[in-house]
Amino acid sequence: MNRDSAKSDGEPGRDVLESGLALLRSHLPQSSSVEIVKALAGGYTDARVVLSDIAQTPVGDGVLNGQYILKAGFSTGRPQAEAHNAFVRSLEKYGQTHVPRLVQSVQESGTSVDVYDIAGLSLDRLRSAEHVDAEDREETCARAARELLTAQLAVAGLPDYRGTIGSVLGEWLGGSFPDDQRGSRVREVLGPMPGTGHVFRHEGELLPDPLVMFDPGVGLAGRDLACFRGPTHGDLHLRNVLVRGSRLTKDLTYWLIDVNWDAPTPLLYDHAYLELSALLFGLGHSTSGRVLPLLARLDEQALTVPVELDLNDSGLITLLRRIRTETRGVLATREQKREDVW
Ligand SMILES: Nc1ncnc2c1ncn2[C@@H]1O[C@H](COP(=O)(O)OP(=O)(O)O)[C@@H](O)[C@H]1O
Ligand SMILES: [Mg+2]
Repeated sequence: MNRDSAKSDGEPGRDVLESGLALLRSHLPQSSSVEIVKALAGGYTDARVVLSDIAQTPVGDGVLNGQYILKAGFSTGRPQAEAHNAFVRSLEKYGQTHVPRLVQSVQESGTSVDVYDIAGLSLDRLRSAEHVDAEDREETCARAARELLTAQLAVAGLPDYRGTIGSVLGEWLGGSFPDDQRGSRVREVLGPMPGTGHVFRHEGELLPDPLVMFDPGVGLAGRDLACFRGPTHGDLHLRNVLVRGSRLTKDLTYWLIDVNWDAPTPLLYDHAYLELSALLFGLGHSTSGRVLPLLARLDEQALTVPVELDLNDSGLITLLRRIRTETRGVLATREQKREDVW
């Protein structure tokens, strides 16, 4: 991850933007012009994202004319445009109203350039879900959790009964996890606890080691796990949720950007990911910065050393609970007779 790559000229992302621009220009009619208005920071990947102005003559249907988001990257195996189109098309109305339109996409010789409509067509009126106040963040996350799941379930069809805990986790975390670099990182963070079985120590508490789920000796991975399968965003963190308006003025609306996955996946990944992203964001603003009191309160578990939560932390719990209750609410209403699947 390169959090600085979208910042400014002279940094490592420069060449990719120039290549992307050249590629786009070569696919537009000669009379068109493309101008970079400003760089947009905020991404976690090494793509370059800019606000651009594109003019094409004669003006007509399907012709680019106005301000657009331009995203240039070195194409890896699967272009992002494929994921974007798969997500938008499968989610039907939700995809059309809550994901900005991809208006042009070109891939060639290892470079890709995607041109998107600005969410809501005005950048000045947009903020990410990190940059709104706590009430609007809660309302946005609640709506996104509820409406996205409703749309996903509407096209999911019958549950998939062939899965196991191991196969679902494999689809979510990658087939080589935890025997890959990310798995090593988890083991490093958990630290060795020889002779104690499957636990690790954190903030004075003994906690279950999450990697037991993958341990063939324990046998959890082989257990049956039915799931709903459907279109999944795959990178639904707060900065990929753009917000316009507010709850107070009754005009709050939101868009999901930066779609990552192009194939149907066991559902609820996006919801867990959004919750985790909200937790990580909230921890950065928490007075104690301690995660266990928060998780204990969220799951109504006791801690060995009880801790009072301050106002910031209580607000964070409210946000996380809201994402969960909205998600459960959709499942309970839509899938009342498949409770054992969820
Ligand atoms: N369609 C869009 N409308 C408005 N702003 C956008 C749009 N797409 C991207 N952005 C802005 O550009 C930033 C980076 O875009 P994103 O697609 O998330 O790239 P990355 O893959 O680097 O995370 C976003 O955080 C947002 O501020
Ligand atoms: Mg992003």
